[in-house]
Amino acid sequence: MEQGGAARIRQALGEKYPDLRIRTLDTADSTNLRLKEAARAGAIRPPWLLTADEQTAGRGRLGRTFVSPPGTGLYMSLLLDHSPAASGQVTITAAVAVCRAIEDLTPLRPKIKWVNDLFVRGKKVCGILAEAVENRVIVGIGVNLLTPAGGFPPEAGPAGALDVPVDRFSLAGRIALHLLDGMAQDFSAVLDDYRARMPLVGCAIRYLVNGNEKTARVKGIDGEGGLIIDGPDGPDTLRCGEISLGSQSFSDFSVFE
Ligand code: BTN
Repeated sequence: MEQGGAARIRQALGEKYPDLRIRTLDTADSTNLRLKEAARAGAIRPPWLLTADEQTAGRGRLGRTFVSPPGTGLYMSLLLDHSPAASGQVTITAAVAVCRAIEDLTPLRPKIKWVNDLFVRGKKVCGILAEAVENRVIVGIGVNLLTPAGGFPPEAGPAGALDVPVDRFSLAGRIALHLLDGMAQDFSAVLDDYRARMPLVGCAIRYLVNGNEKTARVKGIDGEGGLIIDGPDGPDTLRCGEISLGSQSFSDFSVFE
């Protein structure tokens, strides 16, 4: 019989996805790493959901650390029955799923910064990291629920938190529900929702190519989630990586306020 957190997650899922295995931890080095190791050892098979109240070695994109102090965030990973070839779709669907879940449970309306950062009040409140394991995809999601006492450390970048009352297990359940529903949906419908939440069309951006900074203007999102830009060498599409906002060396997040 599931107790506490897992039962609240199950409740938020309604009657759906009874085959989803759920485990909640007080602490983990990284929920992505825990699922990866278990999947590699053949101990678990998708679908699986693992949450932690704290991560001591939270992993971010591009080899960064994801600051994951206790009692202030939701750190969760899902092992999905999709091949790594679908990781772009998983990433986009996860960003939309987190927005929908936050909107289900709070008055907030998050915005998405390509590819998969979520912003509230101009600050990043959620990061998403998809990784491949055993020909499957693990998607890790970190949501800052409360601003830690003393604020976020500088390495967390322009970080903020939801800072409204929300039950983190209910939020985890709603995220899992919308992600699993979204992966079963036509991707073009998910992309329409993604585009509506991604306010960068027409904005100036900066990005790195082989260590060199380039500037461009955003034109839109293509049918695979790529960022269509008008770049220094003409039209182009970014498939991965990270963009900065603003045409100068400072960043301007006002579009996410
Ligand atoms: C990013 O913004 O760079 C991505 C951050 C992803 C963080 C989540 S928290 C749960 C899961 N476990 C990890 O170690 N990372 C992801």
